[in-house]
This record gives sequence, C-alpha cells and structure tokens, in this order.
Amino acid sequence: MAKKLFIKTYGCQMNVYDSARMADVLQPLGYAPTDSPDGADMVILNTCHIREKASEKVYSELGRLRRLKDAKESAGDGRMTIAVAGCVAQAEGEEILARAPYVDMVFGPQTYHRLPEMVAQASRAGGAVLDVEFPVEAKFDHLPDHEGPGATSAFLSIQEGCDRFCTFCVVPYTRGSEYSRDAAAIEAEARKLVTSGTREITLLGQNVNAWHGAGTNGKDWRLGRLVRHLAEIDGLDRIRYTTSHPRDMDDELIEAHGAVDKLMPYLHLPVQSGSDRILAAMNRQHTADDYLRIVERLRAARPDLALSSDFIVGFPGETDADFAATLRLISEVGYAGAYSFKYSARPGTPAAEMENQAAESVRDERLAGLQQLLGEQEAAFHHTKQGAVFPVLFEKPGRKPGQVAGRSPWMQAVVVEAPESLIGRMAECRIVGVAAHSLHGEVAVTNVDHETPAKRVCA
Ligand code: SAH
Ligand code: SF4
Ligand code: F3S
Repeated sequence: MAKKLFIKTYGCQMNVYDSARMADVLQPLGYAPTDSPDGADMVILNTCHIREKASEKVYSELGRLRRLKDAKESAGDGRMTIAVAGCVAQAEGEEILARAPYVDMVFGPQTYHRLPEMVAQASRAGGAVLDVEFPVEAKFDHLPDHEGPGATSAFLSIQEGCDRFCTFCVVPYTRGSEYSRDAAAIEAEARKLVTSGTREITLLGQNVNAWHGAGTNGKDWRLGRLVRHLAEIDGLDRIRYTTSHPRDMDDELIEAHGAVDKLMPYLHLPVQSGSDRILAAMNRQHTADDYLRIVERLRAARPDLALSSDFIVGFPGETDADFAATLRLISEVGYAGAYSFKYSARPGTPAAEMENQAAESVRDERLAGLQQLLGEQEAAFHHTKQGAVFPVLFEKPGRKPGQVAGRSPWMQAVVVEAPESLIGRMAECRIVGVAAHSLHGEVAVTNVDHETPAKRVCA
C-alpha cells in the first residue's frame, strides 16, 4: 500500500512548484499525496521566510504535527516522518532542530532532489538529517519527470535565486544567487506539460525577467526570446511569467508583449514604493519615474495590458510625504490588482539595522489607506469587463453545482454555468456580472448558424 505524503505549502509560487516536484521525487519511493496530515507517513512543511508572521507559523504548525506524530506512534500505526523544507529551513536549519527535536529532516530549496538519500538516512536510527547546502550540481538536472495528467494551468520554474539584494528582503540569502535553466530543458518540460493536458504555463523565477541562458541555437537568450520560442509549441495557448524586477524589463521582453499573442496581457511588476528616497534606501536601483516610463512602453506595446504590483508600507524612514508619493504612483498607473504588506524587519538584512523603524500604528494606518485605494482600482478594473467577450480557460468545477471556473486573459476568476466537459478547454464568454473577486459569464453564442456553445469551444 502506498505511503501517505502530506505537503503543506507556504509562500510564493516557486514553493508551489517545488512542492509538486518533491512529490515527484518521492513517488518512486512509494509515497502518494494525501490531503490531511492525520495519519500521514510523511509530512513536509514547505516554508516561507519573507515576513516574520510567515516564519512563525511554522513553529505553531510543528507543535500540532508533534501531537499527530505521537498519536500515530502510540496507536501502533508506524512512524510519521516530519520534514521542514523551503526558506525557513534554509535560514534557520539548526534552530529548527533545536526548537523542535522531533523533526526528522530539514532541507533547503536547493537540495530536495536528494530526498531519497535523506529519507534513507532518516529511517536509520539516529539523529535528524540537515541539508541546507547550495550544491554545485543543479537540482533541475536531477529531478524526475512528472508522471500523470497535468493541470490545465501549470507552473514551470525557469530561474531561481536573486542577485538584486533589496535591503528588506531575505530571498537572496534563502535562495542563493541567480541561476537560469537552459532553454532546451525548459522547452522539454513545457512540451511534456502540454502533452499531459496543460494549456497555460506560468514561467517562474524569483527574478524571472533576469533569466538568461543558452538558447536552442547555442546563443545566449533573454526572456523575450524564450517566450517567443515557447509560443511556437502547438497546444500551448497561454504564457505568463512572474515575478519581474523593473530593472530587468528589457526592450526584447517589452516587444514580446506586443508581438506574442499567447503572452497574456497581465503583468505582475512590483514597484514597492513611489518615493525615490525610499526606493533608493530599498536598493531597488530605479526611480518612480523609471517605473512609470516602463509601464508606458509596455502599454504602448500591448494597450490592453493590466498590471499588478507589490507594495511595502512603513519601510524604515518612510515619511507621510513618501507614503503620499506611493499613493500618487498608484493613481497614475491604475492597477488591476496588488499585494501590499507592512514592512517586517528580517534578521540579517540591511534594512533591519536601519534607524527610524516605523511604529506599528503608522504601518497599520498606511496599509489601510493603501489597500482602500488599491481595492477601488481592482473593482474599477473588473467593471471594465462588464459586457466584454473574451476567451476563458476553464480549470475546475465552480463552487456551486453546474458551474465551471476559469480565468480571463487578465487573471480574473470567471464563473460560468456550463457542463464540466469545458474543464481543460477554452471558450469565448460574455461577462454578464461583476462581483468583488470574480466575473460571472456565459458561453457566448454569437453565431447566426445556431452553432451550439459546445461547438464554439476551441478545444
Ligand atoms: N522576487 C519578487 C518577490 C519577492 S517576495 C520580487 O522581487 O518582486 C514578495 C513580496 O514580499 C515583495 O515584492 C515585497 O513586496 C514583499 N516583501 C519582501 N520582503 C519583505 C519584508 N521584509 N517586509 C514586508 N514585505 C516584504
Ligand atoms: Fe527580494 Fe528584491 Fe530579489 Fe525581489 S528583487 S527577490 S524583493 S531581493
Ligand atoms: Fe517565501 Fe522563499 Fe518564496 S521566502 S516568498 S518561499 S522565495
């Protein structure tokens, strides 16, 4: 009987991708995914270190797991192996083992291809396994292919690590320096996904538009070229990429937004702040105006492009005037969505040592103000789609019976009353209602030949 594997994923999409690959690595060892930690033979927490709250969650979760582990063992039901993976593991490996000695394995984002050895080692009597190296071999070259049906929309990691060293951020320390996979390996993985049923691929990297690697013609490519290349894959309908740094938004990539229809008109381009003083203190290496010019050029290339961003409020030294500059930038850009965070001082980062750390009450107030404005913009964006007709890629059943749910080209959730046979397919839909977080559509039948909706589906 298969051993039960439960993976809980925190943090960014790269962790989501990594968790799926961990399951692929463990499959030949007899582990099959399960949806509860209760009674599982192995539980992996794939953790995130980005803000204090995210990191602290790990220890409370470990407390709960310890009780499940004890219960399983005292019921004579065998052993539960507990593993901590991801960015907290990378940053606090030793400390985790000291605070939670019942943890069996701790490993970082760069070593999970070695899971089979770690599992063998952990099952032998003795201490816990700790592997938080940055190995010279690239894990991507050592991962097995994913077997079985693929998701309609899938992630594909093409780049990892970050050399930008924003002063608030732990990622350069937890993920290491930038590494790009070769175009041929990326293309092979993309083709495999498409063969397994995937129609949309989101290319992932901590700083994805810094991707540069050997092209299939032996030349050095950057992301714009890679996107054009992947767009040639038959059966792949949509391409997205995330997360980008404004400084790495080069001409070729901006042009690709105009030239490649499969590249979706929605871009997550974090700016963090609209104040030049704060941007400099954050080491973002661009001004607010530089960012606005990039947005202008992107919109010139692709007029229907919608943008989202990340923002940090209460960075050390941020004044009311700095915060007002952020609100001005937001008003100028007009975002379709955004993530905003209160600054969280992270050990080992330069910003944590800066003076003038903002008071919690100031951070709370600014976050509320920012989210109010961003919420209004998001709602306004959704309303621009009322009555519009566009292709929706359907991914799963809706929450109510008889509904299916998919995404618009701009990442909006779209719910339609239609048969489940639409899942995994794309159909032209008309938007007939706009709710806070989703659009309500109907499959559009505009054809005078009384074609059935099913026939209009572009399978
Ligand atoms: N690589 C991506 C995202 C990194 S983390 C990028 O460069 O955009 C995702 C977001 O978390 C960041 O964009 C930033 O807004 C936020 N973040 C990172 N460190 C933070 C910190 N110390 N406090 C608060 N928010 C932070
Ligand atoms: Fe962190 Fe900055 Fe790198 Fe993004 S670009 S991962 S915010 S250091
Ligand atoms: Fe978190 Fe690591 Fe991603 S810190 S945001 S899981 S890169």
